[in-house]
Amino acid sequence: MDLNSRSYTRPARLLHWITASLLVLSFGLGLSMTRFIGDDLKIRVYGWHEWVGVTIFAATIARLVWRLGHRPPPLDVPWVERVGAGSVYVAMYVVLLAQPIVGWLMSTAFGFPVVYLGLVPLPQIVEVDRDLAARLQQIHFALAMTLVALFAAHIAGVLYHHLIRQDGVLGRMLPGRASRASTKR
Ligand code: HEM
Repeated sequence: MDLNSRSYTRPARLLHWITASLLVLSFGLGLSMTRFIGDDLKIRVYGWHEWVGVTIFAATIARLVWRLGHRPPPLDVPWVERVGAGSVYVAMYVVLLAQPIVGWLMSTAFGFPVVYLGLVPLPQIVEVDRDLAARLQQIHFALAMTLVALFAAHIAGVLYHHLIRQDGVLGRMLPGRASRASTKR
């Protein structure tokens, strides 16, 4: 069997697509609530954005925990590509963990404590502080743009493999294929 025809495990694929969908949603909500949404709806959309972000954080933790116990299926690509893709993945994980934490601290520092799903209050570990909030706001925006750049690099890599190399790399993360040879450590 072709090495690259082996898929990620079902939970790994599920968490990948849940994270990708929630990221698109959080970007849509984040950009629109700060630019286009009127005051009547704003508070609610801020809440939705925060809940989606906290869920991304939880999904990222779950992915990392799953990843510790399950190696990705082997991949037959040159080492330069392996190192390049690996660096993008590590950077994505770091930003996906950092961004929700910065968002939570920013919101708290602005004086809007975060209540996940309207049910679970997150701890308020910083005081209300406009200067701190403004700095965190800049960091939140910079991290969002970093994610866009990493996402673009990730998509470029996938498209290169799918359209030019045609080596089955995309299929490893698509639904419907059995995870035949995902090796468990
Ligand atoms: C990976 C998760 C997240 C992503 C990708 C993300 C992305 C964004 C983006 C693109 C914006 C618009 C920035 C701008 O145009 O100035 C934004 C704004 C904001 N985000 Fe997030 N965010 C995430 C998680 C969170 C979380 C977990 C919270 C809070 C718990 C949060 C709180 C906020 C707040 C309060 C704003 C508005 C800041 C302002 O008023 O300028 N974000 N976010």
